[in-house]
Amino acid sequence: MIGLEVNMPKLCVMPGDGIGQEVIPAAAAVLQAVFPDLAIVEAEAGWACFQKQGVSVPDSTLAAIRECGAGLFGAVSSPSYQVEGYRSAILTLRQELNLYANIRPVQSWPTVSPRPNIDMIIVRENSEGLYSGRERIASSIPKSEIRNQELEITAVAERIITRSASRRIAVKTLALMHSQKRHKLTIVHKANVLPLTDGLFRDSVREVFNAEVQKGAEGIEIDELLVDVAALKMVGEPERFDTLVTTNLFGDILSDAASYWGGGLGLAPSLNWGDNIAVAEPVHGSAPDIAGQGIANPIAAILSGAMLARYVWGLGKEASRVETAVYNTLAAGLPSTTQGILQSILNHLH
Ligand code: IPM
Ligand code: MN
Repeated sequence: MIGLEVNMPKLCVMPGDGIGQEVIPAAAAVLQAVFPDLAIVEAEAGWACFQKQGVSVPDSTLAAIRECGAGLFGAVSSPSYQVEGYRSAILTLRQELNLYANIRPVQSWPTVSPRPNIDMIIVRENSEGLYSGRERIASSIPKSEIRNQELEITAVAERIITRSASRRIAVKTLALMHSQKRHKLTIVHKANVLPLTDGLFRDSVREVFNAEVQKGAEGIEIDELLVDVAALKMVGEPERFDTLVTTNLFGDILSDAASYWGGGLGLAPSLNWGDNIAVAEPVHGSAPDIAGQGIANPIAAILSGAMLARYVWGLGKEASRVETAVYNTLAAGLPSTTQGILQSILNHLH
């Protein structure tokens, strides 16, 4: 735990593309206000960086995050067609830095949430599953023929689930539940259709939690839901969720859906978390339709910064200070510009 001034945390900020350029400076300003001695370095990553340097995350950026132990990433625009040599910056960061857990809290906020009393954390396995990167055309046809509609083509993606990664996400989830006094875990999977992969995920998570119960840890209730049922409950009964742990793509989809209850993607923070290293990131994308207009909501980025304080730097009180300022800003009525929102949050910090 870091608390002394001599150990003030360091942060590597990567605004990235689109509105990342607007929301990350706002988040950095809030962190700087709360931690006057915070050392901030800036690094490049994203699609614009790829076009300039031929790589979406340069080695110098990886080195800077490793050196700081913490990063704050904005957003990345990715083309939805394949570009030779390009891989999404955030996927590269997760893989290169082994950020195997993605923590996505969703809570009710005043004036913007459609319902009160929601307070859940989605823990998304962040290193494997359908994000294994193993996608290929199985039949041997020339690349130039791929768009020929007459041809039958088989495209395959491998969905990797390992016992070690499933256990590791369970250990992270358990620690998080202990530190936040959370008592109900829901494991989300599709083991009825994928008994080998998702059965392994479910059983590995249960093993970790059961071992803990045998060690005398009390008070964690575990249930499980198939992902389609979980989606229905996310829409109809979101209050039922406390801590949810699931595989990569299910977590990706469910966390977007869940963010609706927190006031939408403009307010949804996340933390890509490994061992002694993390990159916080607003869940939203680069929003090219509103980029450059000064109207992007910086709250998701600001709350992502607060997650670094709470989880990585062990400074929960300071994180709460930021969250309370966000709360009071929303309660007072959300200003319509990025600068207006930032100013209101800074004013409410005191
Ligand atoms: C997210 C995003 C990413 C993902 C994209 C940008 C690759 O949607 O962080 O949820 O799919 O994980
Ligand atoms: Mn997503």
